[in-house]
Amino acid sequence: MSDFTTILNKDTFSRKDIIDLLNASPEDRTRLFARSAEIKTEYVGNVVYFRGLIEFSNICEKDCFYCGIRKSNRKTQRYNLTDDEVLSAARFAWENNYGSVVLQGGELESPAFTGRIEKLVKGIKALSEDKLGITLSIGEQSPDVYKRWFDAGAHRYLLRIESSNRELYYKIHPHDNTHSFENRMQALYDLRNAGYQLGTGVMIGLPFQTTGDLADDLLFMKELDIDMCGMGPYIEHADTPLWQFREQLLPLEERFDLALKMIAILRIMMKKINIASATALQAIDPIGREKALKIGANIIMPNITPGAYRNDYKLYENKPCMDEEAADCRNCLEARIHMSGNKIGFNEWGDSLHFKEKDKPA
Ligand code: 5AD
Ligand code: FES
Repeated sequence: MSDFTTILNKDTFSRKDIIDLLNASPEDRTRLFARSAEIKTEYVGNVVYFRGLIEFSNICEKDCFYCGIRKSNRKTQRYNLTDDEVLSAARFAWENNYGSVVLQGGELESPAFTGRIEKLVKGIKALSEDKLGITLSIGEQSPDVYKRWFDAGAHRYLLRIESSNRELYYKIHPHDNTHSFENRMQALYDLRNAGYQLGTGVMIGLPFQTTGDLADDLLFMKELDIDMCGMGPYIEHADTPLWQFREQLLPLEERFDLALKMIAILRIMMKKINIASATALQAIDPIGREKALKIGANIIMPNITPGAYRNDYKLYENKPCMDEEAADCRNCLEARIHMSGNKIGFNEWGDSLHFKEKDKPA
């Protein structure tokens, strides 16, 4: 048996194994993808769940060095959807049989903001006869705030650690009180304690990042025993500080290739978690998200933000579907998902099987 086959057949991967898998030759990569696709089919099935993504505001108190909506970027036109706009986007999801929505926005912390999100969560539950699932992705908050939103009806939370390497974390964020690696890590534990299905993720292909860092990211996710993951390629944005390091980056195709390998390896390592096919994949390859669904991802987040605002939620360049209305997106997505060999789990929450089975005795 070749070394590669030996690794693929292992029960658990060491750091070195993961690095070898990330460095797989094109031929070995095909075998890695075949293995992860097989595991996906066996453990979570070929069903893709929709999370209608509502990017409700790009006003952000943080200043991450990679992100186009960072506080210091004066070139971004700031917007904040009205509550009615958020609720009608959620109604669109409900009427189109999407099982869930994601509320995503810039990071803010204030009592008024907490109250607003709480009200929106309750409003979404009310308009959908309590049936739409709700994922939140609104950054670091206090344990009390997490609890209030959970009690209001949200049940999943995504908070990307961005990089599990503390040193790298501080190369891509300012080192101050608002951007603390320790606080972000603590927030992940707070989310779990509040009762959420816990999701995290990283960016792939960052400046200064090594394949060792990426292997550590996957081991970190395993160790944290996450329920969901969203990770995708880093894409440089001209109005951000990291732009200056663009010459050092891997070519876009290589970042894309690494992102697919990360998804495939994670599917093998954590068979029953939910893995999202990140939108950033599509910014590099028009059928990038479908490729990820084929080899391991099982969640897609169609953008249902009202069309007029999409252009202003630009975390990175070349973000796809900028001028589409939500309904157009739905039609094109359905065809694409069928082409990737999956069917759509309409009207279902599609909760993480990993989470559901945690309470059961072994
Ligand atoms: N490239 C890729 N992903 C990015 N994000 C933010 N900026 C970029 C970028 N330039 C990701 C971060 C964040 C998520 C909402 O979007 O990982 O957590
Ligand atoms: Fe808004 Fe990083 S810039 S969370």
